[in-house]
Amino acid sequence: MVSKKEIARRRTFAIVSHPDAGKTTLTEKLLLYGGAIQVAGAVKSNKIKKTATSDWMEIERQRGISVATSVMGFEYQDTKINILDTPGHQDFAEDTFRTLTAVDSVVVVIDVAKGVEPQTEKLVKVCRMRNTPMMVFINKLDREGKDAFELLDEIEQKLELNVIPLSWPVGMGKNFKGVYNIYYKNLHLFTPGKQVVEAGIRFDDIRDPGLEDYLGDDAERLREEIDLVKGVYPAFSKADYLSGKVSPVFFGSALNNFGVKELLDVFVEIAPPPQGRESDVRFVQPDEEAFTGFVFKIHANMDPNHRDRIAFVRVVSGVFRRNTNYLHVRQNRKIKFASPTAFMAQKKSVVDAVYPGDIVGLHDTGNFKIGDTLTEGEILHFKGIPSFSPELFRYVVNADPMRAKQLAKGIDQLMDEGVAQLFTGKQSGRKIIGTVGALQFEVIQYRLEHEYNAKCRYEPITLYKTAWFVSDNKEQLEDFRMRKRNQIAVDKEGREVFLADSPFALQMAQEKYPDIRFYFTSEF
Ligand code: G4P
Repeated sequence: MVSKKEIARRRTFAIVSHPDAGKTTLTEKLLLYGGAIQVAGAVKSNKIKKTATSDWMEIERQRGISVATSVMGFEYQDTKINILDTPGHQDFAEDTFRTLTAVDSVVVVIDVAKGVEPQTEKLVKVCRMRNTPMMVFINKLDREGKDAFELLDEIEQKLELNVIPLSWPVGMGKNFKGVYNIYYKNLHLFTPGKQVVEAGIRFDDIRDPGLEDYLGDDAERLREEIDLVKGVYPAFSKADYLSGKVSPVFFGSALNNFGVKELLDVFVEIAPPPQGRESDVRFVQPDEEAFTGFVFKIHANMDPNHRDRIAFVRVVSGVFRRNTNYLHVRQNRKIKFASPTAFMAQKKSVVDAVYPGDIVGLHDTGNFKIGDTLTEGEILHFKGIPSFSPELFRYVVNADPMRAKQLAKGIDQLMDEGVAQLFTGKQSGRKIIGTVGALQFEVIQYRLEHEYNAKCRYEPITLYKTAWFVSDNKEQLEDFRMRKRNQIAVDKEGREVFLADSPFALQMAQEKYPDIRFYFTSEF
């Protein structure tokens, strides 16, 4: 029986941001509170270094190391928290989108000086589409930045979030004095370099003249600003946050560990516990008796001598148990796992039971691909892990005729991992690889050579997007298939896609065949 208490005390989330806003620093401070790491710098050393952004091999190597930080679980105030790491590099944006399917909420980090940046916009858009509850942490208040009201306006406009500040800064940069916590009604004073661990000075009413003792002339300004906040923004409602309608905002400085504990405390109190997930047959609730889960990430072993991988499974319902037979729904066969891994405090350890909301790592020899569902026998597939149309395309050609088999196997497995997508021209039989970032092409070539002993080269192709298509109008469909036969390919699941070489071509096709529906994601 799944204990309701075990479900209720879990929080699984991801921190998203534009590179450099402070995601790694914030993650690290949160882990320090959970006692999951002892020293600052432990996560950072695993981070994909900025200096290496042009060096894709280094990125891959570090991505390998980052298995340890893929899921960081820790206990805080009797709450089990799982932070799912998302790669910051934009070429791995699809990895991030998929990881976002496995969380129940998100914390968005924004640099007070830079405001809303492109990568943040993209990621928040994905969360908004799914109504994922989001909190915002405005970071680097120890530096000069944008005015708080202006920044909130920018967030509302660019991110299309309805914000409600739950804390408010007193000054910033050199004049940064601290943060007033509107939710808990207390004041935290800022001393550079000093970690805040106390509960803060309580001011139920900020009209209290005692505020002057701490803030001097800034006290009056804070009162005015808080009045303005209360006039402009509605009162905070937890229900609206949980349904994704409003996003609470906090201010602080991750580097100085300032405002982090407030964020964590409120997070633990209001962030959603594990939620159910939609499947192709029904909605699955977390407190159901039978275990279900889905693979949202596959990580290859970086050691070329061991071509095994770890499949990351999010437990949706029931309890996952070691050495128990589960149905691999797509393959329609039972598998059991002798050494499932839990992720606690950055250490991996073998576990016997894993609860909803938690992530379990399963040793995989090539059976899994992203989106696979495991159950106790029920035939269902979890939804919400679509493939998006790639942005960049190239023909992939075998560069070593003696090793065609190895190449096919390598490509097959790399696609299962979600590194890129493969399309095969229906007429020509030519293979096309599609990615979201240019880096992946080099990664694929390198990994094929080093892990599969196969060689490939690329040839250019002019392609704008792949569009999956369906229609009830058989005649139109047949006509389209016939006339466009050179521009139709199949994806790895055998579904047909239209290879549109320009937005215009797509528009023309849509006009000529009004009964055919075109989609840029594989789930529709
Ligand atoms: P990311 O994961 O979002 O890419 O950001 P990361 O935490 O690595 O932070 C990016 C840079 O911003 C780092 O500086 C980090 O120290 C700094 N930073 C993070 N939080 C704060 C803050 O509250 N105040 C200030 N002033 N700086 C902050 P770096 O010099 O690029 O790296 P490092 O040499 O410090 O490691």
